[in-house]
Amino acid sequence: MNVLLTGGLGYIGSHTCVELLNAGHQAVIADNLSNSRVTVLDSIEKITGKRPKFYEIDVCDRDAVERVFSENEIDAVIHFAGLKAVGESCRIPLRYYRNNLDTTLTLLETMGKHGCTRLVFSSSATVYGPNNPVPYFEEMPANLATNPYGWTKAMIEQILRDHCAANPGFTAVLLRYFNPVGSHESGLIGDDPNGIPNNLMPYIARVAGGQLQLLTVFGDDYDTPDGTCLRDYLHVVDLAKGHLCALDYAAEHVGAEAINLGTGKPVSVLELLHAFIRVNGVDVPYVIGGRRDGDLPASYANAEKAERLLHWKAEKSVEDMCRDSWSFILNHTN
Ligand code: WQD
Repeated sequence: MNVLLTGGLGYIGSHTCVELLNAGHQAVIADNLSNSRVTVLDSIEKITGKRPKFYEIDVCDRDAVERVFSENEIDAVIHFAGLKAVGESCRIPLRYYRNNLDTTLTLLETMGKHGCTRLVFSSSATVYGPNNPVPYFEEMPANLATNPYGWTKAMIEQILRDHCAANPGFTAVLLRYFNPVGSHESGLIGDDPNGIPNNLMPYIARVAGGQLQLLTVFGDDYDTPDGTCLRDYLHVVDLAKGHLCALDYAAEHVGAEAINLGTGKPVSVLELLHAFIRVNGVDVPYVIGGRRDGDLPASYANAEKAERLLHWKAEKSVEDMCRDSWSFILNHTN
């Protein structure tokens, strides 16, 4: 299969590209490098022995996307390209709506022109919003996001459902990711956010590496076993493999299908932190601070639908996640 990966040099895109190439597929990457580096191509080649075809383009650019489709026989698309920082999306919402919606619309229109009918979309557990009880399952109402980033995911899911309803031969798999962490075991690719990280695991890893001084744990007075928030941390290599299963599913089904990708196991902030310290034998100084605005006490998946429809199940442990996140930082800072 020849698969177009928009945003394919980013954190999840690059890991998915590796799994695709290792499984014998071909990959074409379209990425504007807004939150990724072109050197990731070299790392993908080092890991797999293959170099994907690369277009440095913005997926909002209709002519550029048209060029990708006319120069390549694309069998399916995995759409990762999008802005993803929650806090930033509250400061510059229009940029988020313009970018995330426009890339999707441009892609769908161009796919239509070229008869490409299979799309896997990078959605997020954020679409479950603040009112559903945990664990989240796919039939729950998923249309009440709490920030512009989350709204773009909810809106794109709706666009894809409408598009599938109007085009009966089209398939869209909406993968709702929980909290992806870790990196490829080579340590060559990983989560490399610009500036100070917002997410817990890259923050822990940078404190361990000495680039940041101190971790603040946002709140220990939640109604959870140790008072800190519960999340469904998922190894990015497991997540990447989920995309291959979704492509197989899309080859045999039509319509829009939302599927959670998570482990189904809640882990607290302090559990993750102490696992990181234990597994890697490092020091991570931390303080307990106040709650962060917008954080939910608990977010984790019911992961049965992925197992049933995709025959996919997360395999890696929290220890694997901690070890591999750290090996990327070690590799990267040396
Ligand atoms: C996890 C836990 C924090 C940093 C966000 C987005 C979501 C998705 C993934 C994708 C929380 C705590 C964090 C720190 C801390 N976006 N924490 N100190 O908030 O579950 O999900 O990222 O692109 O849409 O909302 O993930 O990693 O930010 O936080 O105590 O310095 O770690 O309070 O409980 P979150 P996270």
